[in-house]
Amino acid sequence: MNKEKSKALFEQAKNYFPGGVNSPVRAFKSVDGSPLFITKGKGSKITDADGNEFIDFCCSFGPLILGHAHESVLNAVTETAANGTSFGAPTQKENELADLILSNHRFIDRIRFVNSGTEAAMSAIRLARGYTGRNKIIKFEGCYHGHVDSLLVKAGSGLATLGTSSSAGVPQGTVEDTIVLPLNNKEAVETAVKKYKGEIAAIALEPIPANNGLLLQEKEYLQFLREVCDREGILLFFDEVISGFRIGFEGAAGYYNIKPDVAAYGKIIGGGLPVGAYGSSAEVMNTVAPEGPVYQAGTLSGNPVAMAAGIAQISECLKPGFYDELEMKTDIFCREVQQHAVSKGYPVTLPHKGSIFWTAFSQEKIQSADGIPENSGELFKKMHAALLERGVYLGPSGFEVGFISEAHTDEDMNNAVSAFQEALDEIFR
Ligand SMILES: Cc1ncc(COP(=O)(O)O)c(C=O)c1O
Repeated sequence: MNKEKSKALFEQAKNYFPGGVNSPVRAFKSVDGSPLFITKGKGSKITDADGNEFIDFCCSFGPLILGHAHESVLNAVTETAANGTSFGAPTQKENELADLILSNHRFIDRIRFVNSGTEAAMSAIRLARGYTGRNKIIKFEGCYHGHVDSLLVKAGSGLATLGTSSSAGVPQGTVEDTIVLPLNNKEAVETAVKKYKGEIAAIALEPIPANNGLLLQEKEYLQFLREVCDREGILLFFDEVISGFRIGFEGAAGYYNIKPDVAAYGKIIGGGLPVGAYGSSAEVMNTVAPEGPVYQAGTLSGNPVAMAAGIAQISECLKPGFYDELEMKTDIFCREVQQHAVSKGYPVTLPHKGSIFWTAFSQEKIQSADGIPENSGELFKKMHAALLERGVYLGPSGFEVGFISEAHTDEDMNNAVSAFQEALDEIFR
């Protein structure tokens, strides 16, 4: 595969940006170290600077549930932008997107639009602290909530000890109110809740953890967290930045039928433009300024162009059968690849939920970060290269999940099955 132009652009980019990129995973550091520069996306396909075309299973890391450059999103964006892109004053489009969401979602009554998933998670944490008057947060190893200081934390030594920062530049003082626990471990939660009784504002998690592989939890475990929160006056915070509007319109909350106290959204909600949101009951959300004392604001929040893109996209998601079709397509794809792996005795499974899938280099069910085999990174690197050669683009890290969009055709999916099967044969032969 010719990568000359992408390589030249990357060399140039290194003069401008740290590591040549504006978000670290894009640098392809966990794969071959030289990212593809994308020039065009249409439907399920992307084209790079050298003219190579790929079936795209990254989908901008999740937002593009309709695929690239969907006509209704494009029309909404161009028509709205022609009347001005931002006013710093309310517009009707904010009401329209909010109404579409709230009237089709059982678990939130009020919402606030922000500009990214990180902002949504950060604001949700502040809200939980402001509402409860408590400082500590429980989060889980293997869940990512954006680059929020207090959530860039790794586990300390031993259960229920306070975390240490996982990024330079995050003061210990900021993370010492964050407790990091392993997923799928009730005892760890009970121990922490007992040790810090009356101090914990929120239990934060991705209800479908999709940032460290796909670490699917049992419904019963999520229910347990709900019960602990009710018992202890803690808010249950579902970070649905990935799962929201993806695992059905109501996200994981709807899928599992478990009500979070606070939820954060991003990705799909903005139709491919920068939008995040957090929501809760009217009572909790009334703690937010200007109604209440928790401050949170944004110059471009709710800007009409991004709102229009969100309205166009999630209106499509609301059409009957939309999620069923996506789920079926994903299920067939994963089963076919996995059957091939099983028949050949490869240690590979494809866990999936809704239209999210992951390639796990293990035959075991993996439900916590420490269950991922150590050689997964090396195997993924080989698989990523083998798939690129066969015209399939995955997010450039073995910890990233894949996303399937409405635009992926049967032909795309059949071609992808063959590409995955051949790639696995190449790796394990
Ligand atoms: C679950 C989750 N929360 C928060 C974020 C941060 O969102 P953003 O990258 O839009 O800031 C991400 C990003 O991938 C995410 O997956």
